[in-house]
Amino acid sequence: MEQHEPISESIIAAPAKINLHLHIVGLREDGYHELRTLFYPVSAFYDTIRIEPSHDDSMFMRCAERPELESTSNLIYKAWKAFGAATDYQPGMFVTLDKKIPLGGGLGGGSSDGAAMLRWLNENAGSKALPHDELINLAAALGADVPFFLMDGPAWASGIGEVLTPAEVDLSGTTLLIACPDIHVDTPWAFKAWDEANDFPSSEESLTTLGLGNKNPSLVSPPVVLNDFEPVVFKKHPTLRKIKEMLIQTGADAAAMSGSGASLFGIYRNKETATSAAQALKNNGIEIFTMNCQ
Ligand code: C5P
Repeated sequence: MEQHEPISESIIAAPAKINLHLHIVGLREDGYHELRTLFYPVSAFYDTIRIEPSHDDSMFMRCAERPELESTSNLIYKAWKAFGAATDYQPGMFVTLDKKIPLGGGLGGGSSDGAAMLRWLNENAGSKALPHDELINLAAALGADVPFFLMDGPAWASGIGEVLTPAEVDLSGTTLLIACPDIHVDTPWAFKAWDEANDFPSSEESLTTLGLGNKNPSLVSPPVVLNDFEPVVFKKHPTLRKIKEMLIQTGADAAAMSGSGASLFGIYRNKETATSAAQALKNNGIEIFTMNCQ
């Protein structure tokens, strides 16, 4: 690896996401699952990554809240390594991760951190920068949710999550509540449980008959917001079903689990309803994050 110009200090935000819609189409031969999912960025809820120059060409990582993340299995490190291998641009750096997005919550925190590093490297690589499609391929090799975080807005994803189409999703004026229970759902387990509960691939019909489209003006309606993982994950963690019920009972116009869980979200058209719903959920000991959608 050749020597690089010293880098300057940067602070980057790595936002969370929710899956407004997550339909598992079927199992592929390589063990991965074909999906149809609608990613929505939750920009008000983010990890912060501080990048500072280091005295040599290594990466050092610090995460005060979660020291177990200071490891070579972290997607920030993997992104740095993969980008260096692909482009020969691998500047030494100190990385300080301020972790706010819960781990294993279905909110894409680790994937977003990795994508933020890829984006930063590509923006600073000068003539070694990769074209967007190559950057997306590199991201997909790191994890199925990583490519989405290289987009700048909501997107439909197919394939294993790497075939992305920008989506026009207008949630403006609504309030999003994200419930972050202290439960960790293992993603490979969730896919396996779905396989065991579904002998044959679920039908594409269920997607098309809902009349989904990027420009659907009535996006905030219960039929569009769905998550195929819910039956298997709720069976193992009944608390999550109860939280979804609470979101609906407190007035959410739509509610679902995000990713393979354990976070759940509710979309409220009415701000006051959302405020009292958030309080009711907090009174039940559930950690709640609120975002007013613009
Ligand atoms: O790609 P990522 O590392 O996020 O995926 C974690 C695991 O989830 C994979 O190893 C695989 O078992 C499962 N997975 C899948 N189909 C997808 C995405 C993930 O089966 N589309």
